[in-house]
Amino acid sequence: MIKVAILTMSDRGARGEREDLSGEAIREVLAGMEAVVVDYQVIPDDVETIVERLTDMADHVGADVIITTGGTGVSPRDVTPEATMRVIQRELPGMAEAMRAESMKKTPNAVLSRAVCGIRGRTLIINLPGSPKAVRENLAAVLPAIPHAVEKIGGSDAECGAG
Ligand code: MTE
Repeated sequence: MIKVAILTMSDRGARGEREDLSGEAIREVLAGMEAVVVDYQVIPDDVETIVERLTDMADHVGADVIITTGGTGVSPRDVTPEATMRVIQRELPGMAEAMRAESMKKTPNAVLSRAVCGIRGRTLIINLPGSPKAVRENLAAVLPAIPHAVEKIGGSDAECGAG
C-alpha cells in the first residue's frame, strides 16, 4: 500500500468557508490504486505553513507521496511552488512537464500552473492546481508512474523494463 498525504492550500477552505472538493477529487482518483490516505489537511496559502506541513508529512508522518492541490497559479497568494522548492532535495521536472503537456490538451490556461514535483528523503511531492477538474486531469497524467517512482525512491533496485 502506498501511503499518501493530501495537502490542500486554500485560504477560504482553511477558514471553513469552502468545501474542499479538490482534496475529495484526489481521494476519488486514488481509490483506483493500492493507496491509503495517512494524513489530510487544509491550510492557508502561507509559505511558512506550507513548508512546515510538507516537512512534517515527509519526515514524521512518513508519507510515500504528498499530493498538494492549489496555490500553483499566478495570483499574489499562490505560493505553493515556492514552498515546495524549499522542501524538496531533488526536482522531478518530468512529472510537472507531463502534467502541463497533457493539460494543454484540455485548456490553454494550463500554462498558468507553476506546479513543481520533487523528492524529499523517501517522499515524492506532487503539486496539482486547485480546481477538482484540474486535479483529475493533472493527476491522470502521472498516476501510472507513481508506484514505480515510490519503489525507486525507496531504494529498490528492481529492473525498470516492465512498465
Ligand atoms: N490544468 C488542467 N488540466 N485543467 C485546468 O482546468 N486550470 C488552469 C491551470 N491548470 C487547469 C489546469 C488554471 S485556470 C490555473 S489559474 C492554474 O492551473 C493554476 O491553478 P491554481 O492557482 O488553482 O493552482
